[in-house]
Amino acid sequence: MREDDLDEIMRIELRAYPFPWTIGIFRDCLRAGYPAWVLQADARLIGYGVLSVAADEAHVLNVCVDPADQGQGHGRRLLRGLERVARGLRVQRVFLEVRPSNPTAIALYHDEGFNEIGRRPRYYPAHEGREDAIVMAKELLSDAPTRMPS
Ligand SMILES: CC(C)(COP(=O)(O)OP(=O)(O)OC[C@H]1O[C@@H](n2cnc3c(N)ncnc32)[C@H](O)[C@@H]1OP(=O)(O)O)[C@@H](O)C(=O)NCCC(=O)NCCS
Repeated sequence: MREDDLDEIMRIELRAYPFPWTIGIFRDCLRAGYPAWVLQADARLIGYGVLSVAADEAHVLNVCVDPADQGQGHGRRLLRGLERVARGLRVQRVFLEVRPSNPTAIALYHDEGFNEIGRRPRYYPAHEGREDAIVMAKELLSDAPTRMPS
């Protein structure tokens, strides 16, 4: 993801989320050097994801597919791509938050091996007050086989 992409990203973000990020949040993530990637199809930007990484832990801050392109496996591809990036940075554990009212994302995360590890009460703004966040995590096991010392 580059700053040049942000107008296109904002067009998707505004359609995809009831409470979207501002362009300034994306810009801050890029300037802070967070790993941020776009998914393109036929040179058209159709999705994006942003991670933050600290020590051996990563946090999925945003993962989003253009509403016109959802339900075709792009979200799964994007999430796997972010996971690959995290593995490359030697991350061992990935966290994310999701709204209980977002069954599509929850189903995807479960399917990709994330488990609920807790809740953050009243974490998100909602149309009527606040909404909890489900916190999910996934351990990224090393691909290298481990061997007990003999
Ligand atoms: C969540 C999101 C990224 C998923 O992307 P997507 O491209 O639509 O998802 P995929 O086509 O890769 O589907 C992956 C899985 O999600 C689930 N899923 C997809 N569409 C679904 C639907 N309409 N209802 C329920 N589950 C659904 C299924 O488990 C699906 O796996 P399957 O195809 O094997 O059944 C996308 O819906 C999105 O951008 N939503 C708006 C932004 C958002 O909420 N992001 C997550 C914030 S935590």
